[in-house]
Amino acid sequence: MQWFLSFFSFAVAFQVVFAAPAGLERRASATDAADVGFATLNGGTTGGVGGTTTTVSTLAALTAAVKGTSKKIVIVSGKHPLRTITGNAVVSVGSNTSVLGKKGSSLVGVGLRVKDASNVIVRNIRVSKVLASTGDAIAVQKSSRVWLDHLDLSSDRDHDKDFYDGLLDITHGSTGVTVSWSKLHDHFKASLVGHSDNNKAEDTKITVTYANNHFVNLNSRLPSFRFGRGHIFNNLFQNSNDGINTRLGAQLLVENNVFARTKKPIFSTDGGFAVARGNDLGGATNTAPNGSFTSAPYSYTLSSVAQVKSAVAAGAGQTLSF
Ligand SMILES: *[C@@H]1O[C@H](CO)[C@@H](O)[C@H](O)[C@H]1NC(C)=O
Ligand SMILES: *[C@@H]1O[C@H](CO)[C@@H](O)[C@H](O)[C@H]1NC(C)=O
Repeated sequence: MQWFLSFFSFAVAFQVVFAAPAGLERRASATDAADVGFATLNGGTTGGVGGTTTTVSTLAALTAAVKGTSKKIVIVSGKHPLRTITGNAVVSVGSNTSVLGKKGSSLVGVGLRVKDASNVIVRNIRVSKVLASTGDAIAVQKSSRVWLDHLDLSSDRDHDKDFYDGLLDITHGSTGVTVSWSKLHDHFKASLVGHSDNNKAEDTKITVTYANNHFVNLNSRLPSFRFGRGHIFNNLFQNSNDGINTRLGAQLLVENNVFARTKKPIFSTDGGFAVARGNDLGGATNTAPNGSFTSAPYSYTLSSVAQVKSAVAAGAGQTLSF
């Protein structure tokens, strides 16, 4: 027995170290709080921790479950065997809510909007093919403390660039947003931060962290960032046209990202700034003016660019299981 127990604990310890390398399926907890970036500030982002848990498989059930400001955890399961919720709608997510996707679940034509809300977590959700006439795949507006983690967002590039709208748009003065370990792919307009050129008054306070995301086969806005402050580190950008566009007074801190076959990795069309260090630009050039955002207001661990390539390619997207 003694022998068996010690062998068993050895095997368990071994598993922790070797059976789950970054990137393969990872166990996550429905009660995890935001662990990186701006979403960890001002009390942090805990979503629906401490509230009820509901599992949903239809658009009607999802829409009803994520409403309102009471604490709640909503697990998106989808119908067996495809685990897909299909529709043509944008679902509004209220404050104090966690929306967590089961492995293999998927929203097709159905986007999520976090508007006038605070303390929201969206993790492990896959969204595809939300029509422009319906909205963005994920939209964050007038909100604070939002953690978007392990998302898989895409459409296709078979139509013109305005057939679909944004994959992940963060606008209207939203603060304390972190986008981590997400995969944005096969789309024209990836991620817009800041609503419009004349929305300075509202959007200057925007704060967003992008960490460990995989951007692949996109045209533009990786992200396009107006006003506000952004910390963009340890992301992998591949096969895309425009990279990070810093605009209209935006102050970005861009560290240890890897760009491969991305034509304009860091640039500014009109008056944005970036402090860029430690990036692998894949032979292309950073043309953005140097800025003043030199140090993020939270602690974080930078991976080396060599680590970013393999860890992000394997780990970003809907790779969690709950
Ligand atoms: C939920 O969030 C709001 C802020 O949006 C807060 O005022 C409220 O107290 C929270 N409710 C619960 C039940 O935690
Ligand atoms: C950019 O500006 C910051 C802050 O003034 C400074 O520390 C840094 O050395 C500058 N970087 C470059 C490449 O000029």
